[in-house]
Amino acid sequence: MANPRVRTQKVSAKRVPLQTSRRAFLPGVLWPDNHGMHINAHGGGILYHDGIYFWFGEHKIAGPAGNRAQIGVHAYSSTDLYNWRDEGIALAVCDDPKSEIARGCIIERPKVIFNPRTKKFVMWFHLEPCGRGYVGARSGVAMADEPTGPYTFLRSFRPNAGVWPQNVSAKLRQPLTLQQLARLKQLDLPGGAVPYYPKQLLFRRDFAGGQMARDMTLFVDDDGHAYHIYASEENGVLHISRLSEDFLSLAGKYVRVFPGRFHEAPALMKWRGKYFLFSSDCTGWEPNAARLSVAENIFGPWEELGNPCIGSGCQVANTFNSQSTFILPVRGKRDAFIFMADSWRPENAIDGRYVWLPIEFRHGVPVIEWHDRWDLNFFDKASK
Ligand code: GAL
Repeated sequence: MANPRVRTQKVSAKRVPLQTSRRAFLPGVLWPDNHGMHINAHGGGILYHDGIYFWFGEHKIAGPAGNRAQIGVHAYSSTDLYNWRDEGIALAVCDDPKSEIARGCIIERPKVIFNPRTKKFVMWFHLEPCGRGYVGARSGVAMADEPTGPYTFLRSFRPNAGVWPQNVSAKLRQPLTLQQLARLKQLDLPGGAVPYYPKQLLFRRDFAGGQMARDMTLFVDDDGHAYHIYASEENGVLHISRLSEDFLSLAGKYVRVFPGRFHEAPALMKWRGKYFLFSSDCTGWEPNAARLSVAENIFGPWEELGNPCIGSGCQVANTFNSQSTFILPVRGKRDAFIFMADSWRPENAIDGRYVWLPIEFRHGVPVIEWHDRWDLNFFDKASK
């Protein structure tokens, strides 16, 4: 199963301390797989299926070219979360330059969920077709019979074409007039917060062709419904959108959350009936302060609680030099969740590090503290 083509970075013991003990997590340190290669699954997410954890993420190569998809989505498996076995490339980029997932496109933040009705494994990812930077803002969908693939790419699209969000008034459920469109075109929207960000125009501009979808995650709720959560409207608004029953498309029900707040890197968990959303600000590969939001209903209303990182030092302001990608519920332990984040190295993309930290609950709210080294026993002694 393992693909020899992709073993490109031998862990160098000289440069950084190795994660030698495989009974602990060492956030930010090179993390060797069963071949001694640094795990190559960035912007990742984890599927738990039949007693095994499967980690999927962006396979990166050395240098800045690694920020584009040269290989595909890499899969690993584990039963203990410390030791990961290389399962090779789950979704490969295509050699045909006309393909939507041609080598050199951008595939980011892949997430896989299992559909119990169809018995298929379904992968969603942020896709930017070749050569157009980040203007595509599309969602890609792929499917497989086995968790590690191979995944067949099905299609890409901009979500929710022709569907109005649930939480906008009838007055706003109108495509833009030509005059409004012309005004919008003159606005210089840099992809981060600006005071003149037009909070109520972009979803109307994109109504017909589909909503922009960049940083994303998937979440499966206790009742079996699954959700696609993505940064939309030039990154200024998060959309939370229910998936169809087969998880291959959208169900036509979505909400806009935090217009004008520019949340990226969404990662969702549910604890004691409440939904907690971890996210970041929009500063590209540079880390910034994490954000935590809460809701009693996944469709809102959502409330921002602030930065979930606590402790002393400036690392709290840059999420311990990382950006959220997934919240992993640990099986067999109560109230046990791992905050999974990426410490990006865009100049040498393959060298990106993983920051996994245990989530603690203080006064009914999840918080994250730095630990140089920790293990799953942490959850047995954590106070709730
Ligand atoms: C980050 C985003 C990453 C990637 C990067 C590109 O903000 O979370 O997934 O898109 O920007 O600059």
